[in-house]
Amino acid sequence: MTRIWVEKISRDVYVLRIDDSRTRFFESLWSIPEGITYNAYLLASPKYTVLFDGWKAWYSEDFLETISTIIEPRSIDYIVIHHMEPDHTGSLPRILGVSREATVLGHPMSKTMLKEFYGLEPRFKPVRNGETFSLEGLTLRFIHAPWLHWPETMMTLLEEEGILFTGDAFGGYSIPSSLFDDDESLVEWYMRYARKYLATVIGHYRQHVVKAVEKLSSMDVKPRILAPAHGLIWRRSPETIVSKYVSWAKAEPQPGKITVVYGSAYGSTETMVKLAVKILGKAGCSVVTYKYTDLEEGSLSDLLGDALDSAALVIGASTYEAGILPSIRRMVEELAWKTAAPKPVLVLSSYGWGGVAGKKIAEILGKAGFNVVEVVEARGMPSDEEADRIMDAAGRLAEACGEKA
Ligand code: FEO
Repeated sequence: MTRIWVEKISRDVYVLRIDDSRTRFFESLWSIPEGITYNAYLLASPKYTVLFDGWKAWYSEDFLETISTIIEPRSIDYIVIHHMEPDHTGSLPRILGVSREATVLGHPMSKTMLKEFYGLEPRFKPVRNGETFSLEGLTLRFIHAPWLHWPETMMTLLEEEGILFTGDAFGGYSIPSSLFDDDESLVEWYMRYARKYLATVIGHYRQHVVKAVEKLSSMDVKPRILAPAHGLIWRRSPETIVSKYVSWAKAEPQPGKITVVYGSAYGSTETMVKLAVKILGKAGCSVVTYKYTDLEEGSLSDLLGDALDSAALVIGASTYEAGILPSIRRMVEELAWKTAAPKPVLVLSSYGWGGVAGKKIAEILGKAGFNVVEVVEARGMPSDEEADRIMDAAGRLAEACGEKA
């Protein structure tokens, strides 16, 4: 059953969270068996009501009913949109159909998108970066944070209560068993889903995470609570998720962590990969493996999260139809698009009659900015000389993760 949470997070602000375990592929792309939450927020002060974002269209009626448990929806004065992606705006046509007097506050681009996406032309007040909006005793301050991950992304600081509504930024996948970051073990469990969220959704634009954090600092924004549109609310330690987001955005490596991804049609490439993994294991590296074989299908979405903070990568793929084995081709392309960093990569490939995949993988990853340290291609099973090259290269990779083979 879909769970809905309504709870005060400060004197005047409620979180309205719905747990979505129905969506299997976020953005119709990213596999999320762990689910996702949509967090909207409602400021219900004695003088004004302000809604911050919404839920996915599937949950429009639930959203309206949930708002009704706190206030009369018709009385909403303002609706703040932090970006227009429909996981947060899909329910707004229903809300604006009831809250006809509400004024939407948002980036100037959001006005056009409301018309183009939903045919909506509500009262709209465009807000500039740094602009403040007074609500008789409460102040909203808007901060444009472009490309996190849409061009019109912004955040809102409720100054008097020290709450920063951050939209997607500092959010994560999964359905945490609490609204807040109070429990350290829950935070530890959650982090892989936050990292996966950043890699898959924001990954291509991740340098803008760093810019946004610098901008918040330069604007002297020091929130007491970070209130993202997905996942945990940060009130015990907001700096934890900010520093993690910055670290992931910079693709900073965890010493010793190596991610291995491979696809092997009939086991030859797998044999090559296992030679490398044996060397890495002996050297004390922590190896995370994603594989496509006749028994298993690795998760691209999880892979991207793990690749982001790895010290090095091993990629293995058979040559298939004069190209890269298709399952791995997509992984390589997404690794290049979302997680590129000057990290060492070892490329291993087996072929039947013509070696192609290894060279193509090296070309894609090299162009993206990875440091391809070695490409070993073998016709069928690796020869003794090829096996030596693999083990030698794996030894150099182990050095990159802080250990020696
Ligand atoms: Fe959670 Fe970019 O929407």
